[in-house]
Amino acid sequence: MKLRVDPAPRLRGELRPPTDKSISHRAAILGAMAAEPVRIRGYLDAADTNSTLRAVQTLGALVQVGPDELLVRGTGLREAAVPDAPIDVGNAGTLLRLLPGWLAAQEGRSYTLDGDASIRRRPVDRIAEPLALMGAQVRATEGRLPPFTITGAHLRSVHYELPVASAQVKSCVLLAALSADGATTVSEPAPSRDHTERMLAAAGVTVHRNGRHVTAANVDELNLEELVIPGDPSSAAFPIAAGLLVPGSHLVLRGVGVNWTRCGFVRIAQRMGAIVIGELEDAPGDEIIANEPVSDLDVTAGPLGGTVVEAEEVPLAIDELPLVALLGCFAEGETVVRGAEELRLKETDRIATVVDGLRGLGAAIEATEDGFVVTGTGGLRGGRIASHGDHRLAMLGAVAGLASREGVEVEGMEAADVSYPRFMHDVATLIRST
Ligand code: S3P
Repeated sequence: MKLRVDPAPRLRGELRPPTDKSISHRAAILGAMAAEPVRIRGYLDAADTNSTLRAVQTLGALVQVGPDELLVRGTGLREAAVPDAPIDVGNAGTLLRLLPGWLAAQEGRSYTLDGDASIRRRPVDRIAEPLALMGAQVRATEGRLPPFTITGAHLRSVHYELPVASAQVKSCVLLAALSADGATTVSEPAPSRDHTERMLAAAGVTVHRNGRHVTAANVDELNLEELVIPGDPSSAAFPIAAGLLVPGSHLVLRGVGVNWTRCGFVRIAQRMGAIVIGELEDAPGDEIIANEPVSDLDVTAGPLGGTVVEAEEVPLAIDELPLVALLGCFAEGETVVRGAEELRLKETDRIATVVDGLRGLGAAIEATEDGFVVTGTGGLRGGRIASHGDHRLAMLGAVAGLASREGVEVEGMEAADVSYPRFMHDVATLIRST
């Protein structure tokens, strides 16, 4: 599907982003692991999160869909059923990496996970290694790729040093930790999103942070009653970027999650001179807060200057770095992202696809081993960009189109899963009413 996005006049009005994808995945998985029913308000209705609902259903959880909420009746920590076919994760990397943390504790039972063509390129050795250390067995294609089979075991507690700052791997180990024979510690090279830690704390798990080390104790059961999913800051980042780049714009984004581990993009934009006003959470030190903060964000278009994003900041803005590149095209001077080699392992190689995509629209951007360098030219011509089946690339093209001089045609817009077209529809409505 092709989508033509014309340059927008100013964007003015209010938007509510879709609810958080990362938190929705976790809510469904923890709901399935819980012994008592969990009510989830605002579960994201999108392809990836629907894959998670189907996956937990094949594992024995009952999912009741109401008008505004879901009720998940889980099986408990160690009672997942064995499906009669491989679990299809679709395109959802978070499901691929988190679910095995639970499955690793199903003693003597085996589960195969598979997904689409993009998923078959996503490495799973990063979770296979810690789960094997804990006692589970993982057999992956070519030793590192899906499809793969995990056989559960009585798990040992470990102290695992993450080789990369990955919230998915950290979360996988923390889910396995719940059923291990003692307290498990995961050490991360830099802070990554902490939704799992917060949800575990809310579920009554003893979970502590000490600097870069997170320790979770084992439990008999999870006690979650209700979870409320906030707006997704990664989805909000698209209209935020549009609001910053389309001259004369003023947008209010309602109900956005402002957990500090997800605010990297807004903080980078603010450093570039962007006017974004809201109650961003400050890093709380070692305290693990059992809820997710929410704020409205007020965005006004204005001039931007280049900035440098270093490795430490990368996990806090990992999915928004394509938009940092886009802001860089409009900024004065150079915008540099370093230490972001993880981008090469996303739905596409997002260093290559972002650099090629934006260059095709007229950007002065160069790829490096671990990021990119953009030289701002004050604007972007426009043209054609391919999504390569990557939803964030499709949305990058759409935002670029709004801010460009000649408009952008996005090839493969269907990659942007169900919540995004709805969101684009909202943007179109804003434009019409301006
Ligand atoms: C996610 C973590 C990030 C992110 C992904 C969602 C999560 O991946 O890119 O979109 O929900 O934990 P990594 O943890 O592998 O960097």
